[in-house]
Amino acid sequence: MYRTHTCGELKLENSKEKVVLSGWVKKVREFGGMTFIDLRDRYGITQLVFNMEVNEELCKAAMELGREYVIQVSGAVEERSNKNLNIPTGEIEIIVESLKVLNKSEVPPFTIENQSDGGDDIRMKYRYLDLRRDVVRKNLELRHKMAQAIRSYLSSEGFLEVETPVLIKSTPEGARDFVVPSRMNPHQFYALPQSPQTFKQLLMVAGFDKYFQIVKCFRDEDLRADRQPEFTQIDCEMSFVERDDVLAAFEGLTKQLFREVQNVEFDYDFPKMPFTEAMESYGSDKPDIRFEMKIKELTDIAKNKGFVVFDNADFVGAIKAKGCAEYTRKQLDELTEWVQRPQIGAKGLIYVKYNADGSFKSSVDKFFGADDLKIWAGLLEAKPGDLLFVMAGKRNPTLTQLGTLRLEMAERLGLKDKNTYKPLWVVDFPLLDWDEDTKRFHAMHHPFTSPVDEDIALLGTDPGKVRAKAYDLVINGVELGGGSIRIHDENLQKLMFKQLGFTEEDAKNQFGFLMNAFKYGAPPHGGIAFGFDRWVSMFAGLDSIRDVIAFPKNNSGRDVMIDTPSLISSEQLDELSLDLKKDTK
Ligand code: AMO
Repeated sequence: MYRTHTCGELKLENSKEKVVLSGWVKKVREFGGMTFIDLRDRYGITQLVFNMEVNEELCKAAMELGREYVIQVSGAVEERSNKNLNIPTGEIEIIVESLKVLNKSEVPPFTIENQSDGGDDIRMKYRYLDLRRDVVRKNLELRHKMAQAIRSYLSSEGFLEVETPVLIKSTPEGARDFVVPSRMNPHQFYALPQSPQTFKQLLMVAGFDKYFQIVKCFRDEDLRADRQPEFTQIDCEMSFVERDDVLAAFEGLTKQLFREVQNVEFDYDFPKMPFTEAMESYGSDKPDIRFEMKIKELTDIAKNKGFVVFDNADFVGAIKAKGCAEYTRKQLDELTEWVQRPQIGAKGLIYVKYNADGSFKSSVDKFFGADDLKIWAGLLEAKPGDLLFVMAGKRNPTLTQLGTLRLEMAERLGLKDKNTYKPLWVVDFPLLDWDEDTKRFHAMHHPFTSPVDEDIALLGTDPGKVRAKAYDLVINGVELGGGSIRIHDENLQKLMFKQLGFTEEDAKNQFGFLMNAFKYGAPPHGGIAFGFDRWVSMFAGLDSIRDVIAFPKNNSGRDVMIDTPSLISSEQLDELSLDLKKDTK
């Protein structure tokens, strides 16, 4: 038997018991003729003691042990004189009677401590060592707990977990597909699912009524802190539902998960905010409503006063930074440069200081007197001591830029409390999004999303105005999930594909299977998918989803541990009937 107990379970009440433990050597310390070892496993740390006077040979053997050696010891549990009440086993130690090295370890390339000395690259290369660190393991334990809670809640609500295929045909969700060549079908490719969207709809046609799946999705897109090329969704679909049925069902799941895992109770219905309000007031379709700092429009009162920047703009808007009137020139210049970075792309930043003595100082004093500025301050409900930031330009980009500045100011002012959760549903998204580059409409959500009934007539005349029966769950500025009521009518789906620029032929090639299915009694249906990694990282208090994924990819989409993507042999290429283009990087 390798062990009678784990390294995390022995307590004072086990005193005098004879035990066998196995684990990793975390630390070896020598002190006054004694050798102490912290023995670690997934469950905790137990202190081992070797005494030179009692057993010199054993003590010397212990002194030879290196970090991360795998050992087995037997001995007796004793009360510790020097207790460590910070860990569950801190009141006892094991007086070791025998020691066996089960496996040696090379010196690890970084310290396996919460505050490791290893940089990101090296930790990812040796991820199996990184995963031995408490902080990382705890994230995966949290992930497991959440997955269990989700399965249990959805099962209790009658949802069936059904697996859908991973080698499929492309489903457009806005990103590029990863493709897999088929050996048995030369020159043909599978695509990895960006989501199981069409399959879950087919399961509704099949009468499954309530489906869910905790499922891997694959998207070849530019990576960010909250995006991985393969990530996990809690994917759900229901039949015979309208929007509010879906929202109620998944608000239930959300509340249950918060209650069970995070000990947070929401005793109110999540607010529903139309997309236009989110954009106009927060400059984002995923507003962080933990703090106010809403955008206010100044266009009408700021134009035609001789300031050419405003006069040429179709939108002028402002936000208020509370208590920031004392910002220095240097701080303001730095913020101006910050908003002018290409990622944000603002032309400039205008400030208005509402000084503590009630006077105003602004970067547009030449054009606007105290009377004008007082009106602006009134609109923003500013008080003496506050600072206004004003931006002007094309409406949507300027709103987005103000929204980005709003988030940055909240960060700087410490308004993003990680222990406060402010959920909301963003609803009434536009169905279509005009793309200037390709000069055509794209589905804002995906092509299977149903338009709002009263807007269907606009599809032919003013497609940009059509609202979708789509919704996102947003918490603290993070889009945790998104979904929609689907089109279940073959003809409306055909019309939608047409609007998106698909020829009838293309639509048939790509989605013929779905259109066919709709001929055989498709029930009205809708659903949602949550970003599971995002949800876990929010509960773990992390900004990046990488640390809640056991083996994540880096920002170039590489797994540096297994060193992939990598070349394949010419034999494999031959089998797949593939030639590689020359000059490809
Ligand atoms: P959507 O594309 O909005 O919808 O995705 C649902 C949720 O998945 C998460 N997510 C990601 N998480 C990590 N890395 C990524 N690259 C990534 N991309 C998306 C987000 C997002 O809200 N089939 C539809 C859902 C539906 O209509 O039911 C879909 O996939 O949290």
